[in-house]
Amino acid sequence: MTVAIIVHGGAKTISNDKAKANIDGCTAALEAGWAILQRGGSAKDAVEAAIRVLEDDPTFNASMGATLDTDGEVYLDAAMMDGSNLGWGGVVAVQGVSHPISVARKIMDDKPRLLASEGAERYAREHGFEMCKPSNLITLEQRQHWEKEEAVLDRPATVGCVALDDSGTLVAGTSTGGVANQPPGRVGDSAIVGCGLYADGKVGACSTTGDGESIIPVVLAKTAVDLLAQDRHPDEAAQMAIETLKQKVTGEAGCILIDPQGRVGWAHNSQGMAVAYMTTEMDKPEVFTRKESKPYSQKD
Ligand code: GLY
Repeated sequence: MTVAIIVHGGAKTISNDKAKANIDGCTAALEAGWAILQRGGSAKDAVEAAIRVLEDDPTFNASMGATLDTDGEVYLDAAMMDGSNLGWGGVVAVQGVSHPISVARKIMDDKPRLLASEGAERYAREHGFEMCKPSNLITLEQRQHWEKEEAVLDRPATVGCVALDDSGTLVAGTSTGGVANQPPGRVGDSAIVGCGLYADGKVGACSTTGDGESIIPVVLAKTAVDLLAQDRHPDEAAQMAIETLKQKVTGEAGCILIDPQGRVGWAHNSQGMAVAYMTTEMDKPEVFTRKESKPYSQKD
């Protein structure tokens, strides 16, 4: 049985001075998830562990270091989906929750639901999840961009992970701070099943990233998983899903995929997307900052 995991740090522009932080962050997340899979742990635990690392890393737009809305506030969305039973759970527009992916996973395990704002925060508090002051998740860098109303090219972006464990269970997870300068109350694709993530154990699992307003109408994650039909390789399916988005709407997006055989694939139409993956067929992880580049480990 092949075991596999892939993480992404968001479809975005990655400037040279941010490349190492993206590489290091995705590598650390991959290692956290892989350690769990290697000792026979579940894909749910691996996806949660990997995304928690990315949520703690201000390089990415999820929890710590998330982008600010027009009021200067951080609101978070996250979701997880389990392909073994089509279980899912998510939170949207939450504040003061350190690890929204863990709350989403608990909701999934409890009873599939999408909980919003104060209701989600109350659920997190009542179930003993780590809470924080909403302002604690705002980094100086994001505050400065907001104050100057800067059009920043290499803003942080959504994170995600897909894993296949040794019981054959496929799980997808996605976590985000939305988009920079979003209007208060806006919710994007990331916690919406079929758009920001999808997992069907018989077909495949996907996490997406990019412009929610473009991802939602093409139901990008489900589209990508559907394209795995007839044994299509996940790399080809991922590319076709992004082509579908490009043909139907404008906007930047990316996706990561794993099929039930443990084959991985990814694609994006943004300048960059940090990705790291590892399977039991590989000697060591591959890490990239964009699709066309050589793996980081092969750079001169
Ligand atoms: N993909 C993140 C968002 O649009 O909210």
